[in-house]
Amino acid sequence: MIDQRLLPGEYREVSFDSYDQVADAIQQMVVRGAPAIGATAAFGMALAAHTSPAGEVVELRDDMAAAAETLQAARPTAINLTWAVERMLQVANNPVMDDVRELRAALLDQAQSIADEDVEINKRMAAYGAGLMQEGETVIHHCNTGALATVDWGTALGVIRMAHEQGKNPHVLVDETRPRLQGARLTAWELEQYGISYEIITDNAAGFFLSSGKVNRVLVGADRVAANGDVANKIGTYMLALAARDNQVPFFAVVPTSTVDLLLVKGDQIPIEERDPGEVLDLEVKGEPVAPAGALARNPAFDITPHRLITGIVTENGVVYPPFEINLPKAVMESQR
Ligand code: MRU
Repeated sequence: MIDQRLLPGEYREVSFDSYDQVADAIQQMVVRGAPAIGATAAFGMALAAHTSPAGEVVELRDDMAAAAETLQAARPTAINLTWAVERMLQVANNPVMDDVRELRAALLDQAQSIADEDVEINKRMAAYGAGLMQEGETVIHHCNTGALATVDWGTALGVIRMAHEQGKNPHVLVDETRPRLQGARLTAWELEQYGISYEIITDNAAGFFLSSGKVNRVLVGADRVAANGDVANKIGTYMLALAARDNQVPFFAVVPTSTVDLLLVKGDQIPIEERDPGEVLDLEVKGEPVAPAGALARNPAFDITPHRLITGIVTENGVVYPPFEINLPKAVMESQR
Protein backbone atom coordinates (compact mmCIF):
# COMPACT_ATOMS: atom_id res chain seq x y z
CA MET A 1 0.00 0.00 0.00
CA ILE A 2 0.95 3.67 -0.30
CA ASP A 3 1.97 5.13 3.06
CA GLN A 4 -0.56 7.99 3.10
CA ARG A 5 0.96 9.51 6.23
CA LEU A 6 3.92 10.69 4.17
CA LEU A 7 2.09 12.37 1.30
CA PRO A 8 2.41 14.83 -0.32
CA GLY A 9 6.10 15.11 0.66
CA GLU A 10 7.04 11.53 -0.10
CA TYR A 11 5.47 8.74 -2.17
CA ARG A 12 6.43 5.43 -0.58
CA GLU A 13 4.94 1.97 -1.13
CA VAL A 14 5.07 -0.34 1.87
CA SER A 15 4.28 -4.04 2.24
CA PHE A 16 3.39 -6.27 5.16
CA ASP A 17 3.96 -9.95 6.00
CA SER A 18 1.26 -10.59 8.59
CA TYR A 19 -2.36 -9.70 9.19
CA ASP A 20 -1.62 -8.01 12.50
CA GLN A 21 0.77 -5.64 10.73
CA VAL A 22 -2.07 -4.92 8.29
CA ALA A 23 -4.46 -4.21 11.18
CA ASP A 24 -1.85 -1.90 12.67
CA ALA A 25 -1.41 -0.09 9.32
CA ILE A 26 -5.19 0.50 9.21
CA GLN A 27 -5.21 1.78 12.81
CA GLN A 28 -2.22 4.08 12.20
CA MET A 29 -3.82 5.34 8.96
CA VAL A 30 -1.04 4.23 6.63
CA VAL A 31 -4.14 3.40 4.60
CA ARG A 32 -7.44 5.19 5.26
CA GLY A 33 -10.80 5.89 3.62
CA ALA A 34 -13.67 3.44 4.13
CA PRO A 35 -13.51 1.45 0.85
CA ALA A 36 -9.68 1.29 0.94
CA ILE A 37 -9.81 0.01 4.52
CA GLY A 38 -12.31 -2.69 3.45
CA ALA A 39 -10.18 -3.94 0.56
CA THR A 40 -7.05 -3.81 2.73
CA ALA A 41 -8.73 -5.88 5.44
CA ALA A 42 -9.78 -8.43 2.80
CA PHE A 43 -6.14 -8.81 1.73
CA GLY A 44 -5.21 -8.96 5.44
CA MET A 45 -7.54 -11.98 5.73
CA ALA A 46 -5.98 -13.58 2.63
CA LEU A 47 -2.55 -12.98 4.17
CA ALA A 48 -3.74 -14.61 7.41
CA ALA A 49 -4.77 -17.68 5.41
CA HIS A 50 -1.45 -17.87 3.58
CA THR A 51 0.70 -17.41 6.70
CA SER A 52 -1.34 -19.75 8.90
CA PRO A 53 0.48 -23.05 9.61
CA ALA A 54 -2.89 -24.91 9.59
CA GLY A 55 -2.80 -28.29 7.88
CA GLU A 56 -6.56 -28.86 8.20
CA VAL A 57 -9.50 -26.72 7.10
CA VAL A 58 -10.93 -26.60 10.66
CA GLU A 59 -7.66 -25.16 11.98
CA LEU A 60 -7.51 -22.65 9.16
CA ARG A 61 -11.05 -21.52 9.97
CA ASP A 62 -10.03 -20.92 13.60
CA ASP A 63 -7.08 -18.81 12.44
CA MET A 64 -9.33 -16.84 10.10
CA ALA A 65 -11.74 -16.10 12.96
CA ALA A 66 -8.84 -14.74 15.04
CA ALA A 67 -7.61 -12.60 12.14
CA ALA A 68 -11.16 -11.29 11.56
CA GLU A 69 -11.40 -10.13 15.15
CA THR A 70 -8.06 -8.28 15.03
CA LEU A 71 -8.74 -6.62 11.66
CA GLN A 72 -12.29 -5.56 12.57
CA ALA A 73 -11.08 -3.91 15.76
CA ALA A 74 -8.63 -1.65 13.86
CA ARG A 75 -11.14 1.16 13.20
CA PRO A 76 -14.75 1.13 14.42
CA THR A 77 -16.71 3.56 12.23
CA ALA A 78 -16.11 2.40 8.64
CA ILE A 79 -18.61 -0.42 8.05
CA ASN A 80 -16.71 -1.44 4.89
CA LEU A 81 -14.13 -3.05 7.18
CA THR A 82 -16.70 -5.40 8.73
CA TRP A 83 -18.43 -5.89 5.38
CA ALA A 84 -15.21 -7.02 3.67
CA VAL A 85 -14.09 -9.24 6.56
CA GLU A 86 -17.52 -10.89 6.62
CA ARG A 87 -17.33 -11.59 2.89
CA MET A 88 -13.98 -13.28 3.51
CA LEU A 89 -15.41 -15.31 6.43
CA GLN A 90 -18.25 -16.53 4.20
CA VAL A 91 -15.63 -18.06 1.89
CA ALA A 92 -13.58 -19.40 4.82
CA ASN A 93 -16.62 -21.06 6.37
CA ASN A 94 -18.11 -22.43 3.16
CA PRO A 95 -18.80 -26.09 4.03
CA VAL A 96 -18.08 -27.15 0.44
CA MET A 97 -14.41 -26.16 0.89
CA ASP A 98 -12.51 -29.07 2.39
CA ASP A 99 -9.00 -28.61 0.97
CA VAL A 100 -6.63 -26.20 2.74
CA ARG A 101 -4.73 -25.22 -0.39
CA GLU A 102 -7.90 -24.59 -2.37
CA LEU A 103 -9.35 -22.57 0.49
CA ARG A 104 -6.26 -20.35 0.66
CA ALA A 105 -6.49 -19.73 -3.09
CA ALA A 106 -10.25 -19.00 -2.87
CA LEU A 107 -9.63 -16.43 -0.14
CA LEU A 108 -7.04 -14.61 -2.22
CA ASP A 109 -9.47 -14.63 -5.17
CA GLN A 110 -12.20 -13.16 -2.98
CA ALA A 111 -9.93 -10.34 -1.76
CA GLN A 112 -9.02 -9.53 -5.37
CA SER A 113 -12.73 -9.53 -6.34
CA ILE A 114 -13.51 -7.06 -3.53
CA ALA A 115 -10.73 -4.78 -4.82
CA ASP A 116 -11.75 -5.08 -8.48
CA GLU A 117 -15.44 -4.52 -7.73
CA ASP A 118 -14.57 -1.36 -5.80
CA VAL A 119 -13.09 0.28 -8.89
CA GLU A 120 -16.06 -0.66 -11.04
CA ILE A 121 -18.56 0.54 -8.40
CA ASN A 122 -16.74 3.87 -8.03
CA LYS A 123 -16.92 4.48 -11.76
CA ARG A 124 -20.65 3.78 -11.76
CA MET A 125 -21.19 6.22 -8.88
CA ALA A 126 -19.00 8.77 -10.63
CA ALA A 127 -21.15 8.58 -13.76
CA TYR A 128 -24.39 9.10 -11.77
CA GLY A 129 -22.85 11.92 -9.72
CA ALA A 130 -21.27 13.71 -12.69
CA GLY A 131 -24.67 13.53 -14.40
CA LEU A 132 -25.95 15.94 -11.72
CA MET A 133 -23.23 18.51 -12.38
CA GLN A 134 -23.34 21.47 -14.75
CA GLU A 135 -20.44 23.05 -16.63
CA GLY A 136 -18.16 25.20 -14.42
CA GLU A 137 -19.51 24.23 -10.98
CA THR A 138 -17.68 25.18 -7.80
CA VAL A 139 -17.80 22.28 -5.35
CA ILE A 140 -16.81 22.09 -1.69
CA HIS A 141 -15.23 18.74 -0.86
CA HIS A 142 -14.35 17.45 2.61
CA CYS A 143 -11.56 15.03 3.65
CA ASN A 144 -10.11 12.74 0.98
CA THR A 145 -12.45 10.49 -0.97
CA GLY A 146 -10.32 9.90 -4.06
CA ALA A 147 -8.24 7.05 -5.43
CA LEU A 148 -6.28 7.00 -2.16
CA ALA A 149 -9.41 6.44 -0.07
CA THR A 150 -10.68 3.65 -2.30
CA VAL A 151 -8.97 1.00 -4.43
CA ASP A 152 -8.93 3.42 -7.33
CA TRP A 153 -10.93 6.32 -8.77
CA GLY A 154 -12.81 7.48 -5.65
CA THR A 155 -16.31 8.30 -4.40
CA ALA A 156 -17.06 12.06 -4.05
CA LEU A 157 -13.73 12.97 -5.63
CA GLY A 158 -14.45 10.33 -8.28
CA VAL A 159 -17.57 12.30 -9.23
CA ILE A 160 -15.49 15.46 -9.60
CA ARG A 161 -12.89 13.55 -11.60
CA MET A 162 -15.56 12.19 -13.95
CA ALA A 163 -17.07 15.68 -14.41
CA HIS A 164 -13.56 16.92 -15.25
CA GLU A 165 -13.09 14.13 -17.81
CA GLN A 166 -16.45 15.06 -19.32
CA GLY A 167 -15.08 18.57 -19.90
CA LYS A 168 -17.30 20.23 -17.28
CA ASN A 169 -14.37 22.16 -15.73
CA PRO A 170 -15.26 21.81 -12.06
CA HIS A 171 -13.47 23.98 -9.50
CA VAL A 172 -12.92 22.48 -6.06
CA LEU A 173 -12.73 24.29 -2.73
CA VAL A 174 -10.77 21.73 -0.71
CA ASP A 175 -11.53 21.71 3.03
CA GLU A 176 -8.15 21.19 4.64
CA THR A 177 -9.82 18.78 7.12
CA ARG A 178 -8.28 19.18 10.53
CA PRO A 179 -6.75 17.48 12.42
CA ARG A 180 -5.07 15.08 9.97
CA LEU A 181 -5.41 17.37 6.96
CA GLN A 182 -6.56 14.72 4.48
CA GLY A 183 -7.90 17.55 2.28
CA ALA A 184 -4.82 19.76 2.19
CA ARG A 185 -2.39 16.84 1.96
CA LEU A 186 -4.17 14.11 -0.02
CA THR A 187 -7.07 15.62 -1.96
CA ALA A 188 -4.91 18.52 -3.17
CA TRP A 189 -2.19 16.01 -4.16
CA GLU A 190 -4.69 14.01 -6.20
CA LEU A 191 -6.26 17.07 -7.83
CA GLU A 192 -2.80 18.27 -8.88
CA GLN A 193 -2.28 15.02 -10.72
CA TYR A 194 -5.64 15.06 -12.46
CA GLY A 195 -5.15 18.70 -13.50
CA ILE A 196 -8.38 19.77 -11.77
CA SER A 197 -8.66 23.38 -10.65
CA TYR A 198 -8.71 23.76 -6.84
CA GLU A 199 -8.02 26.02 -3.88
CA ILE A 200 -7.48 24.86 -0.30
CA ILE A 201 -9.67 26.53 2.32
CA THR A 202 -9.62 26.22 6.10
CA ASP A 203 -12.52 24.15 7.37
CA ASN A 204 -13.99 27.18 9.12
CA ALA A 205 -14.07 29.18 5.85
CA ALA A 206 -16.64 26.84 4.28
CA GLY A 207 -19.62 28.78 5.72
CA PHE A 208 -18.28 32.00 4.26
CA PHE A 209 -18.01 30.51 0.78
CA LEU A 210 -21.38 28.77 1.02
CA SER A 211 -23.06 32.08 1.91
CA SER A 212 -21.32 33.84 -1.01
CA GLY A 213 -23.71 32.32 -3.55
CA LYS A 214 -20.75 31.05 -5.56
CA VAL A 215 -20.75 27.40 -4.42
CA ASN A 216 -22.98 25.09 -6.45
CA ARG A 217 -22.66 21.85 -4.51
CA VAL A 218 -21.11 20.05 -1.55
CA LEU A 219 -19.82 16.52 -2.18
CA VAL A 220 -18.65 14.19 0.61
CA GLY A 221 -18.08 10.47 1.14
CA ALA A 222 -19.16 8.39 4.14
CA ASP A 223 -17.81 5.79 6.53
CA ARG A 224 -21.22 4.43 7.42
CA VAL A 225 -24.80 5.33 6.50
CA ALA A 226 -27.75 4.25 8.67
CA ALA A 227 -30.94 2.86 7.13
CA ASN A 228 -32.66 6.26 7.46
CA GLY A 229 -29.91 8.05 5.48
CA ASP A 230 -28.02 9.57 8.43
CA VAL A 231 -24.37 9.79 7.34
CA ALA A 232 -21.24 9.24 9.45
CA ASN A 233 -18.33 10.98 7.75
CA LYS A 234 -15.14 12.86 8.62
CA ILE A 235 -15.48 15.29 11.51
CA GLY A 236 -16.76 18.63 10.25
CA THR A 237 -19.19 17.16 7.71
CA TYR A 238 -22.18 18.01 9.94
CA MET A 239 -21.25 21.70 10.18
CA LEU A 240 -20.74 21.77 6.43
CA ALA A 241 -24.19 20.28 5.86
CA LEU A 242 -25.78 22.83 8.21
CA ALA A 243 -24.17 25.73 6.37
CA ALA A 244 -25.12 24.22 3.01
CA ARG A 245 -28.76 23.88 4.07
CA ASP A 246 -28.88 27.43 5.44
CA ASN A 247 -27.74 28.67 2.03
CA GLN A 248 -29.84 26.24 -0.10
CA VAL A 249 -26.71 24.63 -1.56
CA PRO A 250 -27.30 20.98 -2.60
CA PHE A 251 -25.44 18.53 -0.35
CA PHE A 252 -24.72 15.04 -1.72
CA ALA A 253 -23.01 12.04 -0.11
CA VAL A 254 -21.38 9.63 -2.58
CA VAL A 255 -21.53 6.18 -1.09
CA PRO A 256 -21.17 2.59 -2.31
CA THR A 257 -23.98 0.39 -0.97
CA SER A 258 -21.32 -1.54 1.03
CA THR A 259 -21.14 1.58 3.24
CA VAL A 260 -24.85 1.41 4.12
CA ASP A 261 -25.57 -0.43 7.38
CA LEU A 262 -29.23 -1.44 7.20
CA LEU A 263 -28.98 -2.99 10.66
CA LEU A 264 -28.77 0.49 12.17
CA VAL A 265 -32.04 2.42 12.09
CA LYS A 266 -30.53 5.84 12.87
CA GLY A 267 -27.15 7.56 12.83
CA ASP A 268 -26.85 7.83 16.61
CA GLN A 269 -26.29 4.05 16.65
CA ILE A 270 -23.10 4.38 14.59
CA PRO A 271 -19.94 3.98 16.71
CA ILE A 272 -17.74 7.07 16.46
CA GLU A 273 -14.00 6.56 16.67
CA GLU A 274 -12.25 8.90 19.10
CA ARG A 275 -8.56 9.10 18.26
CA ASP A 276 -5.44 10.14 20.15
CA PRO A 277 -5.65 13.80 21.34
CA GLY A 278 -2.06 14.12 20.13
CA GLU A 279 -3.46 14.40 16.58
CA VAL A 280 -5.05 17.71 17.65
CA LEU A 281 -2.31 18.95 19.96
CA ASP A 282 0.85 18.04 18.05
CA LEU A 283 0.55 20.98 15.69
CA GLU A 284 3.59 23.17 15.32
CA VAL A 285 3.98 26.57 13.70
CA LYS A 286 7.57 27.58 12.92
CA GLY A 287 8.80 24.63 15.00
CA GLU A 288 6.81 25.68 18.09
CA PRO A 289 3.78 23.78 19.48
CA VAL A 290 0.61 25.89 19.19
CA ALA A 291 -1.03 24.53 22.36
CA PRO A 292 0.34 25.11 25.86
CA ALA A 293 2.21 22.20 27.42
CA GLY A 294 -0.25 19.97 29.27
CA ALA A 295 -3.30 21.12 27.25
CA LEU A 296 -6.06 18.54 26.89
CA ALA A 297 -7.98 17.86 23.66
CA ARG A 298 -10.87 15.81 22.29
CA ASN A 299 -10.56 14.13 18.92
CA PRO A 300 -13.70 12.48 17.50
CA ALA A 301 -12.76 11.36 13.98
CA PHE A 302 -16.31 11.39 12.55
CA ASP A 303 -19.66 13.06 13.06
CA ILE A 304 -23.22 12.28 12.03
CA THR A 305 -25.04 14.37 9.45
CA PRO A 306 -28.81 13.90 9.89
CA HIS A 307 -30.60 12.83 6.71
CA ARG A 308 -32.80 15.94 6.79
CA LEU A 309 -29.72 17.96 5.69
CA ILE A 310 -28.87 15.65 2.78
CA THR A 311 -30.20 16.40 -0.70
CA GLY A 312 -29.32 13.00 -2.15
CA ILE A 313 -27.08 9.95 -1.79
CA VAL A 314 -25.25 8.83 -4.93
CA THR A 315 -24.81 5.04 -5.02
CA GLU A 316 -23.63 2.63 -7.72
CA ASN A 317 -27.32 1.86 -8.29
CA GLY A 318 -28.33 5.46 -8.93
CA VAL A 319 -29.01 8.66 -6.99
CA VAL A 320 -31.24 8.09 -3.97
CA TYR A 321 -33.52 10.90 -2.76
CA PRO A 322 -35.77 11.20 0.32
CA PRO A 323 -37.57 9.42 1.83
CA PHE A 324 -34.24 7.65 2.44
CA GLU A 325 -35.71 5.08 4.85
CA ILE A 326 -37.68 3.71 1.87
CA ASN A 327 -35.38 4.42 -1.07
CA LEU A 328 -31.98 3.59 0.47
CA PRO A 329 -32.79 -0.04 1.39
CA LYS A 330 -34.12 -0.49 -2.18
CA ALA A 331 -30.77 0.68 -3.63
CA VAL A 332 -28.87 -1.65 -1.27
CA MET A 333 -31.07 -4.65 -2.14
CA GLU A 334 -30.39 -4.07 -5.82
CA SER A 335 -26.72 -4.95 -5.21
CA GLN A 336 -27.73 -8.13 -3.40
CA ARG A 337 -29.88 -9.48 -6.25
O1 MRU B 1 -10.26 8.99 8.87
P1 MRU B 1 -10.27 8.74 7.38
O2 MRU B 1 -9.28 9.53 6.63
O3 MRU B 1 -10.22 7.26 7.07
O4 MRU B 1 -11.71 9.25 6.94
C1 MRU B 1 -12.11 9.12 5.61
C2 MRU B 1 -13.41 9.76 5.32
O5 MRU B 1 -14.03 10.35 6.18
C3 MRU B 1 -13.96 9.62 3.95
O6 MRU B 1 -14.83 10.67 3.65
C4 MRU B 1 -14.76 8.31 3.85
O7 MRU B 1 -14.00 7.21 4.27
C5 MRU B 1 -15.27 8.06 2.48
S1 MRU B 1 -13.94 7.88 1.38
C6 MRU B 1 -14.27 7.18 0.00
